[in-house]
Amino acid sequence: MPETIKNSGDSAGSAKKPAVLWAGRLEEKPGEEAFAFQSSIGIDRRLALDDIRGSRAHIAMLGRQGIIPQETAEALDAELIKIAEDISKGELEIDPRCEDIHSFIEGILTEKLGAPGRMVHAGRSRNDQVALDFRLNLKRAVPEIQGELAETIRALLDVAEKHAANVMPGYTHLQRAQPVTLGHHLAAWCAGLERDLGRFGDALKRLDSCPLGAGALAGSTLPLDREMTSRLLGFSRPSLNSMDSVADRDFALELASAAAILAVHLSRFCEDLVLWASEEFGFIDLAEKWSTGSSIMPQKKNPDFAELIRGKSGRAIGNLVTLLALLKGLPYAYDKDLQEDKEALFDTLDTARSCLRMFRGMVSSAAFNTGRMEAACTGGFLEATDAAEYLVRKGLPFRLAHEVAAQLVRDCIAAGQRGIAERSLAELKQRSPLFEADVYMAITPAAMVAARSLPGGPAPEEVLRQIETLRKRVAGIPAPR
Ligand code: ARG
Repeated sequence: MPETIKNSGDSAGSAKKPAVLWAGRLEEKPGEEAFAFQSSIGIDRRLALDDIRGSRAHIAMLGRQGIIPQETAEALDAELIKIAEDISKGELEIDPRCEDIHSFIEGILTEKLGAPGRMVHAGRSRNDQVALDFRLNLKRAVPEIQGELAETIRALLDVAEKHAANVMPGYTHLQRAQPVTLGHHLAAWCAGLERDLGRFGDALKRLDSCPLGAGALAGSTLPLDREMTSRLLGFSRPSLNSMDSVADRDFALELASAAAILAVHLSRFCEDLVLWASEEFGFIDLAEKWSTGSSIMPQKKNPDFAELIRGKSGRAIGNLVTLLALLKGLPYAYDKDLQEDKEALFDTLDTARSCLRMFRGMVSSAAFNTGRMEAACTGGFLEATDAAEYLVRKGLPFRLAHEVAAQLVRDCIAAGQRGIAERSLAELKQRSPLFEADVYMAITPAAMVAARSLPGGPAPEEVLRQIETLRKRVAGIPAPR
């Protein structure tokens, strides 16, 4: 075998530059800065163990199919196991001067074993290799995020259960609207997070096909067994079309989208928390360890964690846009542009994971000022709809009942009163003779919430039912490590 090419790194000594995999074709190599520009080792080093896993399956298949000698397959496999161990233990450093993780691993194999190392890439391209590695990595990483999500939902549900009966104002247009319970509000957050969980699960299902054997784009003339590698790697099936296998990044888009929606959810929850932590609301006291102070204003206790989680949603949105823009107009099949996919998606998934962990810690340790919340149910005429519905129950058409209640609100404001209950029965009867003394019992915050017992409503027993439903839905999902 010809050994010396100018472009080869001549891997005899580790101080020498590592070889590229295409040294046979191009005598000249890009300059140092240009080479570093096109290298992906900085990010795809995260795929090292996935790359080794993929190679082990490929090699086992090559051996079984008689494409390489069985003893060679065994020797390569033993060496790959060792390389994986050494990398995991930190005993083998990934060379940042390599073009990518695929060249690095193949280079080490060749350095250690000589000729057998040169056999591993038969019937394979870095195009199907990277599509495989990325998918293998995501099949490990996404369940971790699902675990974080499930754990976050469980933590929120515990708080929701504790506060199932604590009334608070519900808002529309950020104006006090109708009374709900804190448990209802928190369960609303959980309903969104549970859909996020489903979105990640859906993406995982479609991601579950094995691109190995697609080669550069057109498969191979060698008798590869694609079923075997797919099975060995735990995929449900080999991918259908070799061009699609190397060109497709739908799975990255779907996951980036699921994560962006999750991040947007968290940003909204955090906005609620920031408002609640303000003096003006005073609904929540964040734990000191989940707050920060000011370098100049001695009195400050800022909800920085909530603000930062809110802010980080910008990254997740940006990364989704990056991926969409990357793919738009890209000709089939593989193009080097696709190399940009990993940085965007890994950043998004890392961000989602840490945001969930921070959010969970912050909410679980917060103290809710239920007295303030209950007090805030008075003064904003949250009982106006209930007064109207009281009249509807007595037979008045809703549009007329709405007018009566609106008039009562105007009466109160004119008289400097904070609630309809401050008006006498005689005054109420002036607006509608249908009012009786029992109206006062119907428009206390607790009664208004208890009466909203429809499925989905804020009545305490209904909130408990929602909590149980959500708990069951996430029960099978293991907590993250
Ligand atoms: N670093 C590349 C990526 O991440 C691997 C595939 C390279 N293929 C190629 N023909 N240059 O997409």
